[in-house]
Amino acid sequence: MAITQKGNELFFGEDQFVVSKTDLKGKITYVNDLCIEMCGYTEKEMIGAPHNILRHPDMPRAVFKLLWDKVQAGDEIFAYVKNRTKSGQFYWVHAYITPIVDTRSAKIIGYHSVRRCPSPKGLSVIEPLYRQMLEAEKSGGMQSSLALLDNTLAKLKVSYAEFILSYE
Ligand SMILES: Cc1cc2nc3c(=O)[nH]c(=O)nc-3n(C[C@H](O)[C@H](O)[C@H](O)COP(=O)(O)O)c2cc1C
Repeated sequence: MAITQKGNELFFGEDQFVVSKTDLKGKITYVNDLCIEMCGYTEKEMIGAPHNILRHPDMPRAVFKLLWDKVQAGDEIFAYVKNRTKSGQFYWVHAYITPIVDTRSAKIIGYHSVRRCPSPKGLSVIEPLYRQMLEAEKSGGMQSSLALLDNTLAKLKVSYAEFILSYE
């Protein structure tokens, strides 16, 4: 598989997908081969583990709040996520996260994330925004981080989804 490395950052191919599924609490129930390869954990280590084992300290908490709010409400969300591998390297993804709905009961039974490599254009906007959101979280908590994101979207007159999808 076409995983490449530059310094501490890993990259996967434009035609590849990093896939995982979780239960309702965010415990990993499935990972594809590329996910295992990128993360550096074995499948055994990943299945049953909370998905935050990949959490990178550069990620604002507000992004995960938005993510969970959306999927728990039965909606989809696109998000840029920086992940940390077992050995401390990192990689960026453009994730599409959706609820998994049981067709019989119509209840949400888990969540599914399909990630592709982000566009450099998207990252050039998201990286500085996440840095500001992280700073806002340190001084004013989650609310100021979410307010910062809201202000950014209001200035651009776009929704969160339009904002994320405009950098394809
Ligand atoms: C389907 C799915 C995939 C997720 N993938 C990631 C991921 O790749 N990296 C990550 O840091 N968090 C991911 N999360 C969010 C984590 O569950 C968690 O909320 C996040 O890492 C922040 O950790 P915390 O909730 O303990 O603060 C995912 C959640 C779901 C439902």
